[in-house]
Amino acid sequence: MVFLKQLCISSGSVLRRYIQTSSRRQVELTSIRYPGVKRGNYGVVVDNDIATFERLIPGRVLTDSLEGYNTDWLKTCRGASQVVLRPKSTEEVSAILKYCNEKKLAVVPQGGNTGLVGGSVAVFDEIVISTQLMNNIISLDEISGTLVCQAGCVLASIEDYLSEYKLTIPVDLGAKGSCHIGGNVATNAGGVRLLRYGSLHGSVLGLEAVLASGEVVDCLSTLRKDNTGYDLKQLFIGSEGTLGLITAVSLNCPQKPQAVSVAFLGCESFQRVLDIFKESRHKLGEVMSAFEFMDSHSMVVAKENLKLKSPIGDFPFYVLIETSGSNGSHDEEKLSQFLEHVTSSEIVQDGTVATEPTKIQYIWSIRERLAEGLLHDGYCYKYDVSLPLSSFYGLVEAMRERMGNMVTRVIGYGHVGDGNLHLNLTSPEYSSEVMKKIEPFIYDWVADQKGSISAEHGLGFKKKDFIYHSKSKSAVRLMKDIKRTFDPNMILNPYKVLPDL
Ligand code: FAD
Ligand code: MLT
Ligand code: ZN
Repeated sequence: MVFLKQLCISSGSVLRRYIQTSSRRQVELTSIRYPGVKRGNYGVVVDNDIATFERLIPGRVLTDSLEGYNTDWLKTCRGASQVVLRPKSTEEVSAILKYCNEKKLAVVPQGGNTGLVGGSVAVFDEIVISTQLMNNIISLDEISGTLVCQAGCVLASIEDYLSEYKLTIPVDLGAKGSCHIGGNVATNAGGVRLLRYGSLHGSVLGLEAVLASGEVVDCLSTLRKDNTGYDLKQLFIGSEGTLGLITAVSLNCPQKPQAVSVAFLGCESFQRVLDIFKESRHKLGEVMSAFEFMDSHSMVVAKENLKLKSPIGDFPFYVLIETSGSNGSHDEEKLSQFLEHVTSSEIVQDGTVATEPTKIQYIWSIRERLAEGLLHDGYCYKYDVSLPLSSFYGLVEAMRERMGNMVTRVIGYGHVGDGNLHLNLTSPEYSSEVMKKIEPFIYDWVADQKGSISAEHGLGFKKKDFIYHSKSKSAVRLMKDIKRTFDPNMILNPYKVLPDL
């Protein structure tokens, strides 16, 4: 067992640098852009509250230069928080929440602030409780691969830490240099490894959370099997800070793959993307660890906005397949047989394979940095939906036709292997006219196909009013009952996830 190791934030991250340089642009206040949302009947922070917070967490109460905590990563939402609290322990979180609940002060839990649905920042003046300083590894059982850590550990730092023990983390996403494991669990983040390791509902073995009342709910089990009573941890996974503040998590960490290869392929139509997926499931089977796609409009973003070069020629669609396993020559042989089949049957037009880490990383960056590249256009209208594969790309085509030249571009990419499409539209700046043309049309379209309006990013602030497009009335009513039980004063992340509370 390895105990209590403090993780440092991976400072070299491209993502972090990007956040810093682009944070100078002032974003319209959420309360002005969305005039329909009204401030709840919450207390207002006064000097006496600040003095109490100072007593609870001396030197870790911020009241100046809060721009970075008030603005979301997409630069689409801005709150007016006057105070940011940075606890280091579960006990401190408990004391803070107990006090806020008594005074009816609303709070927003914040991890790495990389969320894409406006959930991680205040809508009005909610107090930000940041997990930035809760970044200790609590224990690692090398034999079972069970890691227990505080919620504020940065995902990439955990990955670095685990690799020393030949282990890896079962969730991976483009924001890994900044996002916190607590934020990942709170959003039930999907990412590029879901195809291989499944969702966090399976990989999280236990967690600890603090309720609005300050009560600590200890479900920090490290057991693989535990059927004693209701599995309460599942309620916190994906609850986006509305049911409790997650302070620690216990994770089942797989062995680090010894051999990784990436194939980047070009093809002529989305039907071909699906053909490649079918063949790869058949021929690569257990060694396939990711299957991603991007369209030619996405490649333009990579080239023009990010100055990245395509490793192959120009095609209407691109597929990124990753294989990872324990036997390099076995995996490479499978991959080359698969590639031979898909090229000889003309499913694939061109392709390249990388086995060297820097080349693999470069190819992944073309796909993973698209979110960043889109911000160069100005404003990004971001959608993250689940759709049956038969209608998957139809939504991108429908939106392209509908929007015409109202927007700069409409692009489609995403986790085809998980049935998760990322549809993005951009314009030089936010336009309510463009927004009205997109919504609710897009959600109606998804509902008609029996898809989900949020595959992995959550509902946060921006999508909460559309929950009925994907969930029944009775399901939402039960969710509201759960919310009232966990947080009767509704202080935890108000205006998020559930409508009309
Ligand atoms: P934050 O953004 O700080 O918070 C997100 C939500 O969780 C908020 O509602 C917040 O209140 C709540 N929260 C945060 N910490 C806690 C806590 N300790 N307890 C309770 N509630 C908490 N998402 C995916 O699913 N898949 C992807 O592939 C993916 N790729 C991304 C790539 C980029 C470049 C970016 C910028 C984002 C991406 N995201 C992706 C979205 C985002 O990174 C994830 O939602 C991530 O899990 C958020 O973690 P965070 O620590 O930044 O949380
Ligand atoms: C991704 O898969 O790249 C992320 O979910 C971010 C995005 O949707 O742009
Ligand atoms: Zn994604």
